Amino acid sequence: MCGIVGYLGEGNARSIVLEGLKRLEYRGYDSAGMSLYDETEQYFNVYKEKGRIQALESIVDMERSPMGIGHTRWATHGKVNRENAHPHRSADGRFTVVHNGVIDNYSKLRDLYFDGHTFQSETDTEVVVELIAHYASKMPSQDAIRKVLKMLHGSYAMLVIDALEPGTLYAAKYKSPLLIGKSDQGIIIGSDMMALVGTADNYLPLDDETFVRITRKNFTQYDLDGEVLPYTMSKLEMDDFTSEKGEFDHYMLKEIHEQPAVLRRIISKYFNETHVHIDERLLKTIRQHERIHILAAGTSMHAGMIGKELLESLAGIPCEVHIASEFAYQQPLLGDKPFFILISQSGETADLRACLLNLKKANHPSLTITNVRTSTLAREADHSLELHAGPEIAVASTKAYTAQIAVLAILAYSMSEQTFDLKRELSEVAQAMEHFLDRYESVETLTTNLLTKRNCFYIGRGSDYHVCLEAALKLKEISYIQTEGFAAGELKHGTIALIEEGTPVIAIISNDKTAENTRSNLSEVKSRGAHTLTITFESLSENGDEIVLDNINPSLAPLLTVIPTQLIAYYAALKRGHDIDKPRNLAKSVTVE
Ligand code: G6P
Repeated sequence: MCGIVGYLGEGNARSIVLEGLKRLEYRGYDSAGMSLYDETEQYFNVYKEKGRIQALESIVDMERSPMGIGHTRWATHGKVNRENAHPHRSADGRFTVVHNGVIDNYSKLRDLYFDGHTFQSETDTEVVVELIAHYASKMPSQDAIRKVLKMLHGSYAMLVIDALEPGTLYAAKYKSPLLIGKSDQGIIIGSDMMALVGTADNYLPLDDETFVRITRKNFTQYDLDGEVLPYTMSKLEMDDFTSEKGEFDHYMLKEIHEQPAVLRRIISKYFNETHVHIDERLLKTIRQHERIHILAAGTSMHAGMIGKELLESLAGIPCEVHIASEFAYQQPLLGDKPFFILISQSGETADLRACLLNLKKANHPSLTITNVRTSTLAREADHSLELHAGPEIAVASTKAYTAQIAVLAILAYSMSEQTFDLKRELSEVAQAMEHFLDRYESVETLTTNLLTKRNCFYIGRGSDYHVCLEAALKLKEISYIQTEGFAAGELKHGTIALIEEGTPVIAIISNDKTAENTRSNLSEVKSRGAHTLTITFESLSENGDEIVLDNINPSLAPLLTVIPTQLIAYYAALKRGHDIDKPRNLAKSVTVE
């Protein structure tokens, strides 16, 4: 999704902004642009290019600059082209803006204020910058910007340059994330913590409806009426996990391999010698509620499905899982005393934020489980639990999924009467992951031989079915093979019509109660020409099973069975020559609804 970086200070804005944009590449984008201040000419140059940041870098002809703003665009309004890329400048040349988010009422504002004006782009942002210029001809620029902000419906994280005040940068935020970082050298502002790392020592995540005036050494925060808002900055500490690719060709492969280490890290963060340590106030609150509702999107929702099983089977609390974008506008009957768990790797997904705002209005208690401690959802929910997975750079989520399941298992366990040793069981999972990953390259040949068609099915029952949904999503996301995750017993009720000679069907079998049934379903598709592959555990394996994993506690099976499916997706995408870490059309953190 779109990214923003801005810098003012003694450092070189050219390299700091470009480096910041590169750090945001993982979020997904299709064009990039920047504006840099030329001190000699006393002019803000604007550069934009379709495609990668390298293309932008090659046209930036300035070596140094004390101030600049940059943007990576993930198209929402208008095609992917140079004209629609940010920054956008007002027709009078005075204001330059980069913007993340969506202005819902932009066409209304355009028709109302700019009848007959020719816009350079199809974007909502250009209307905003023209409006600012319009009001700034009548009042001080700060007042003009705040006036325009009050007129906007939708979401924004925005940086505004006024060419008449070259040492000042304005920033504003509503619903889309924006953070300010500070060091002795200057001020950096970005839409993601990753942009600040390496440049800032301290940071401040901005609240909604704040407006900030930034100079080279300092900044002042206001509300939209111009009242000064006090703030306290926090120290920026980088996670232990690096954000470099290291020995791996892709971030996705690196992150798949990090999973045993992430699991061990979660164990060390959530257990002391023998006991779980999760804030007792959180556990007490959950116990006082009758039903848990899990809200999430994408991969996190698939982790939520496993979480539901764990919370129901270990803690005995009824639990439902909802798609966040549906729940935000179509709230089902909640029953008495609902408690809400929001699961989000990024902690910024706009669909979830929309849900959380509704929950807060209704005074419902909430917990966010996220990988980003400083994220909006972590800050705004009543409670938060951290995944400790380290930065996840590949768009296709892998280690965050297993970390989410592990944290949900620990939460469920800490509210249960269970006496088994979860700490030991999780350590055994980490070991089994490692054992499988030691021979991970064998998955390449299996994948190449199997995935020869444009479609594929994953089948399983119970939690295996839920892993199948995630496995299918992963394969779709990066290989673009049309894949469905199916409840094994349901296939014969219609969808089996799609099975023909060579159709790939992958079965996940981890449960002894349903293993026989799933194997029968596998035979049904085999006899109709399907090419099959089985992922199972040693204790359930039969001759000819292709992927056999070490035995672990069956309730934790998803943590392990998902790993071969991540590698299947990886190798399918590699074989097809796709951009594995930045698949087409996708964004890592989806900050628009
Ligand atoms: C995007 C990503 C998915 C992710 C989903 C939810 O669609 O491409 O990988 O699962 O958002 O993101 P979250 O950060 O809320 O877990």
